[in-house]
Amino acid sequence: MAEQDTHKDDAADAPAGMRKGVTHYGDAGFSLFLRKAFIKGAGYTDAALDRPVIGIADTGSGYNPCHGNMPQLIEAVQRGVMLAGGLPVKFPTISIGESFAQPTSMYLRNLMSMDTEEMLRAQPMDAVVLIGGCDKTVPAQLMGAASAGLPAIQLITGSMLTGSHRGETVGACTDCRRYWGKFRAEEIDETEIADVNNQLVASVGTCSVMGTASTMACVAEALGMTVPGGASPPAVTADRMRVAEHTGSVAVQMAKSRLTIDKVLTAKAFENAMRVLLAIGGSTNGIVHLTAIAGRMGFEVDLKALDRMGRETPVLVDLKPSGQHYMEHFHAAGGMTALLRELKPLLHLDALTVTGRTLGEEIDAARPSFKQDVIRTRAHPIYPQGGIAVLQGNLAPGGAIIKQSAADAKLMEHEGRAVVFEGLEDLANRIDSDDLDVTADDVLVLKNIGPKGAPGMPEAGYIPIPRKLARQGVKDIVRISDGRMSGTAFGTIVLHVTPESAVGGPLAYVRNGDRIRLSVEKRELALLVSVDELVRRKSAQPVVAPTAQRGYRKLFLETVTQADQGVDFDFLRAAKMVAKVPSVPPA
Ligand code: FES
Repeated sequence: MAEQDTHKDDAADAPAGMRKGVTHYGDAGFSLFLRKAFIKGAGYTDAALDRPVIGIADTGSGYNPCHGNMPQLIEAVQRGVMLAGGLPVKFPTISIGESFAQPTSMYLRNLMSMDTEEMLRAQPMDAVVLIGGCDKTVPAQLMGAASAGLPAIQLITGSMLTGSHRGETVGACTDCRRYWGKFRAEEIDETEIADVNNQLVASVGTCSVMGTASTMACVAEALGMTVPGGASPPAVTADRMRVAEHTGSVAVQMAKSRLTIDKVLTAKAFENAMRVLLAIGGSTNGIVHLTAIAGRMGFEVDLKALDRMGRETPVLVDLKPSGQHYMEHFHAAGGMTALLRELKPLLHLDALTVTGRTLGEEIDAARPSFKQDVIRTRAHPIYPQGGIAVLQGNLAPGGAIIKQSAADAKLMEHEGRAVVFEGLEDLANRIDSDDLDVTADDVLVLKNIGPKGAPGMPEAGYIPIPRKLARQGVKDIVRISDGRMSGTAFGTIVLHVTPESAVGGPLAYVRNGDRIRLSVEKRELALLVSVDELVRRKSAQPVVAPTAQRGYRKLFLETVTQADQGVDFDFLRAAKMVAKVPSVPPA
């Protein structure tokens, strides 16, 4: 019974463990009696049931090889929970594997967040270990947990190992795109592309570059939501399993001290996470996800302030697609601890983490950094400014973004003729046609791939180089859309144009031959068409937003917000916004 006493909150006599949230039968004593009778059917003793209950969100799925180490992770978490005196109880939620979700994984992220939130609310647990990894899963879990309000800790599944193709290190999925580009340009043949296909994903785990999964792993650690060093160990390593065991033990401490998620996900934590997102040259998707998580806690992301933060935050991590290494190298170089130490002057060191200690205390307690060539110093960055710049202009009144660290420097100040594709089908039908009227100086524009347009804002913003240009050796061209792109992609690509074309944003009215000006230096995205002409086009062809008759698609289309609000459902965001983040005043 001692364990039962230790996990009681001193300040509140709220029911805990198996006594928490009993099903309503009109008789609370009977409800608890019934619950215990049923769980005892699984062989539990009263002593076990009196312990703090630690839920473990199991997102294993045959459709999600990025979570292929889930059984081993759960076993290690359970061990950690038991060692610390808790009772581990795993439960399933839906899982989203990036390349197995149609129309796009983003369409399902909010559904997974709702599943997570409601299962945390419905089932008795004093803390929860969220196990996720593939792109949308960590954001969905953090969104759901933020709304549920319990003590919560994130465990990352970890990155996959790299492979080797004809002596060259390869990994998903920057190299997937690079080799596919070579195949499209007829530089390699079918035999070689098939060989590469066997090598890109060398083990279970998440993509091995600084794509969205790795970005969100680093962001989760910067938020204070993982144990120190929780972001970087690859999926199949002993380090990853030790992180899992440690996570289980910390979850028990959190349950005992009632360290609820609102104490960790503060404005300072979000600012730290944004700083890290910029310094790792992270995925553009990270902005959308952080905006959604912050929105659950009542924080509104100020894109202009984020851009100011970017101007004073160098990219320090030399990983693909902005650099050259892979996640396993980042881990060997010291991982997030080494990065956070380098960023110390730019961080809020007093932000609390899941361990109950501050970020600064954890950095100071970590092993010393050492000389390596993956995590640079601020004096010798990979890129002098943050990886992501926020653009504004008459083509994107609500903002747009570009991953400048992965763009071609020669195209970042560019004016060109628009070559317009009305949607994904139009793109597929014409992009490889020899008749396509396009040159390397043009600007490719793709409409209708925003939150409502596709729907789900697919990662189709990485518009392929038209085959006729690829054959001429063209490797990059300015591309603009209201969609997203994979964090593993690269190029001079403007994304998240807000408002999207499907709801009548200016992008809807761009026509072939219009002039478009991109200036990353001035943070400008301009459609060089007169206001009168745009008004005339709008009244001639008004946009009708897409609708659906029933089901999840109806809910999605009626409630999804734009990119500047994280593409969350409007009814899932906090009822009241309390502050803007980050707080970076104009110079
Ligand atoms: Fe799952 Fe890349 S496909 S992380």
